[in-house]
Amino acid sequence: MKKLKVGVVGCGSIAGYAHFPSYQKMTDLVEVVACADIVPEKAKAAAEKYNIPHWYDSVEALLAGEPDVDYIDCCTWTAAHAPVTIAAAKAGKHVLCEKPLAANLEQGLAMDKAIREAGVTFMLAVCTRYGSEQQKFIELRDEGVFGDIYFAKTAYVRRRGVPGGWFTNKAIAGGGPVLDIGVHAIDRTWYLMGKPKPVTVSAETSSRIGQNKSEASFTWGEGLAERPEAQIFDVEDSASVFFRFEGGKSMIAEASWTINGKEEFYSKLYGTKAGVSFDPLTIYGVDENGKLTDTKVEVPGNDFYEDEIRHFVDCLNTGKTPISPMEDALTVHRMLDGIYRSAEAHREVEI
Ligand SMILES: NC(=O)c1ccc[n+]([C@@H]2O[C@H](COP(=O)([O-])OP(=O)(O)OC[C@H]3O[C@@H](n4cnc5c(N)ncnc54)[C@H](O)[C@@H]3O)[C@@H](O)[C@H]2O)c1
Repeated sequence: MKKLKVGVVGCGSIAGYAHFPSYQKMTDLVEVVACADIVPEKAKAAAEKYNIPHWYDSVEALLAGEPDVDYIDCCTWTAAHAPVTIAAAKAGKHVLCEKPLAANLEQGLAMDKAIREAGVTFMLAVCTRYGSEQQKFIELRDEGVFGDIYFAKTAYVRRRGVPGGWFTNKAIAGGGPVLDIGVHAIDRTWYLMGKPKPVTVSAETSSRIGQNKSEASFTWGEGLAERPEAQIFDVEDSASVFFRFEGGKSMIAEASWTINGKEEFYSKLYGTKAGVSFDPLTIYGVDENGKLTDTKVEVPGNDFYEDEIRHFVDCLNTGKTPISPMEDALTVHRMLDGIYRSAEAHREVEI
């Protein structure tokens, strides 16, 4: 099998926490030939730390300097996902892109157009789809263990966890916890339900607590508090959501960076034969005597960031469709966009 060449664009937290370390564990499959960041010192530092031969100050410079690169791994802040993906697609390169898809639906649609026109492969890095318990659940679901899954609840709730930096700046982030962490909960749960067709959404968003820095709501990263984009807080700090899907199915969702309540991240699904929760994977069923059963399924944990990247590489090598393709990314982004439209209108809206 040919070793793939990747250029990593955006050398910040998630690149350093998940992407570069994962590539170091798969040197037999992928070679990181270059990295880029609009802050050149960050690209240079990453190149030195991870032994990457070349570094650049833009995706354009990387594409020009590394014409043999097979794919671009986009780890930039959210508003740059679209320009980076579009530049890569126009150069005929496949794209792995961090979540959320884009800062808004318009950008997501432009990315989809560029990917389709170029005929390249795109995968959204929604890491929580790639958890071993979630993949085991899919196997059981497809064997019919749960019957018809018609309802789900999900939440990604931080009590005090506003990320700070650009994350609170709508022009760069596109939105607050809905796009930042709500996407993990909503994307994962919708995927586990079997991707029912979204019909409407009713939501409210709030920004009553997060903007008050004296409440210690911020978990500033090093140097982030001083940066100009961090002085702006024009996104929500929490959201409550109800989705309707085709066939009378539904999902309740909650996302917050700061709220006066318990921290949690869960997906609970309810089917006609059984239901499920995770951490640990537990099936809530009924046995042949009508007795209620709680069955824990032992599943070894995994590094879902690494497995997600390995899956993308496998898709490029085999021609398989990714578990998290553009089609799903766009559908989920329409759902997220609906949350903001509904909250603004204070009523249910169509997706
Ligand atoms: N999957 C996860 O669990 C997870 C976790 C954290 C962040 N993320 C996502 O990853 C992305 C990056 O987040 P982060 O926390 O690493 O942010 P970060 O600010 O630490 O890093 C982003 C980097 O992108 C660079 N950049 C911005 N525009 C660029 C451009 N046009 N070209 C090249 N570089 C550019 C910035 O200079 C910065 O170094 C975000 O979209 C975020 O939502 C995902």
